[in-house]
Amino acid sequence: MDRIRIRGGRPLSGEIKVGGAKNAALPLMVAGMLTDDRLVLTNVPRLADVQTMTLLIQQHGVAVDNVTNDARSLSIGGPISNTEAPYDIVRKMRASFLVLGPLLARVGEARVSLPGGCGIGARPIDLHLKGLEQLGARIELEGGYIDARVDGRLKGAKIVFPFVSVGATENLLMAATLAEGRTVLANAAREPEIGDLAAGLVAMGARISGIGSDTLTVDGVDRLHGAEHAIIPDRIETGSYACAAAISGGSVFLRDARLDHLGATVRILREAGVDITEQPDGLMVTRLNGLHGVDVMTEPYPGFPTDMQAQLMALLSVADGASMVTETIFENRFMHVPELNRMGARINVHGASAIVRGVPGLSGAPVMATDLRASLSLILAGLAAQGETIVNRVYHLDRGYEAVEQKLAACGVDIERISG
Ligand code: EPZ
Repeated sequence: MDRIRIRGGRPLSGEIKVGGAKNAALPLMVAGMLTDDRLVLTNVPRLADVQTMTLLIQQHGVAVDNVTNDARSLSIGGPISNTEAPYDIVRKMRASFLVLGPLLARVGEARVSLPGGCGIGARPIDLHLKGLEQLGARIELEGGYIDARVDGRLKGAKIVFPFVSVGATENLLMAATLAEGRTVLANAAREPEIGDLAAGLVAMGARISGIGSDTLTVDGVDRLHGAEHAIIPDRIETGSYACAAAISGGSVFLRDARLDHLGATVRILREAGVDITEQPDGLMVTRLNGLHGVDVMTEPYPGFPTDMQAQLMALLSVADGASMVTETIFENRFMHVPELNRMGARINVHGASAIVRGVPGLSGAPVMATDLRASLSLILAGLAAQGETIVNRVYHLDRGYEAVEQKLAACGVDIERISG
């Protein structure tokens, strides 16, 4: 298993290009299953999860081809010949479950493995299933798989989510585009990735209104056609590298980063003492003076994103004063805390909240990545730490961050990947 070695203490200086958003690319790739034509996606990030999604879609019989040899443009579409999504793929990447709605919408049946839990929580999919039943699907659970079918077409309905779910919004939005009649998704997720998926579906001929709001209205059509769609920049990658600039006391230009997608992340980072200025083609992020502790609660967009919680916690561990970090989305998303504490951080977890008492500095140590965002959090701590940090199990990192060591090395960081 690969490891990443960092020698900390150097302020970042330079430019980092922000890639396409992982959490927009994955549902948009599945959207390609909704048409016999080709959906061409550009600005596709090169990530392990994109490769996994490619294999999943291809085993359904739907073509996924590289349009350019840099694998940043994919052409997806075609007839569906297999309606089963197997456990060995779904268990590796939960976003696989997003094929359920499109399979039902296009061919009226699906057999999709239940994703099971993951490190950060149980992550049930009950909202996905209840919503599809409201659209007329019959859902059965058998042998760890969801067996779903619908006689004829899905039928539009009004679905009110009891709480915000990104994945359930995406699954049902895609299913509704080919359902008969009108579907209303109330209390829908509003993350920029939802807006990007909706924009791609509209380009394919879907009829969706309310994009960007918490109520999406979809008037089903008989078929969708091909289109070309550029994936939005990754706001979590943006926030992660903004924390890298800040924790190292440096200054980095984040090319293609979009301030309007960052929601509460901007306010929280500025409160902590990070200077973020918008420029025509990106964001300039600088840390001029000291960092200050802030209190933060993760919330659905436009609140502070749960996917930025671990990275912010690394930053706050070397801020002046104390911070309280409350995780409201997932029940077990503090696995980075013991690893940060091994580097000298002073963090105490009390249920859904963690108290972070800032320390003057961290010391390098061997640590273990436990999930995607935690692995980046440990790299951030390594940037600030005196001495050498070894981050183990970086396969977590490769799922959602492209070329981290190259991007950081280009900004002056002493970092390398140790294979094996
Ligand atoms: C998406 O996961 C993201 N993944 C996650 O990013 C992100 O953390 C999450 O949204 C929240 O923003 C992708 O987009 C591929 P949810 P998703 O449904 O859709 C509960 C990363 O690091 N819930 O919004 O699975 C669920 O357990 C990943 O890139 C139900 O109870 O998240 C959680 O507590 C990690 N029943 C909460 O809702 C359901 O049917 C929010 O989950 C669905 C969800």
